[in-house]
Amino acid sequence: MRIALGSDHAGYDLKALVADHLSDLGHDVDDLGAADATTSVDYPDFGAAVGRAVVSGSADLGVAICGTGIGISIAANKVPGVRAALVHDVTTATLAKQHNDANVLCLGARVTGTVTALGALDAFLAASAESRHAARLHKIAVLDGSSTANNPSED
Ligand code: RB5
Repeated sequence: MRIALGSDHAGYDLKALVADHLSDLGHDVDDLGAADATTSVDYPDFGAAVGRAVVSGSADLGVAICGTGIGISIAANKVPGVRAALVHDVTTATLAKQHNDANVLCLGARVTGTVTALGALDAFLAASAESRHAARLHKIAVLDGSSTANNPSED
């Protein structure tokens, strides 16, 4: 898969580890910045960049990282069509894919340890979206305007 990565300065070190990990697994990584851990930058810029890459189709999935993962997930979710999920462990990562078909995985570099973060990433990549949640995802798409179509499964 082609996976877009983005972080602010607080997430930079974890982003580098995630990039190496994904490359080792054979994925194509598109690193959208930040460029280093010492220059203070704004997480909305990178959350938006990752979200736009996924929605445009230039990436299949995104990974977005800031200090807590909170700010960058909020920002990514402002891009219509993005379902960004802040996860803290294997369980939340797995459910983010199974129940929410999340297309951007968000991590908090200051609150989640490296081993846990990479384990969550692996779990997210291994999980599959469950079709029984499709009508709920459609309602989210209507909320953000990324879909206006009627959902035939709703009555
Ligand atoms: C940056 O200091 C920090 O606020 C940011 O990385 C993130 O935690 C915000 O949600």
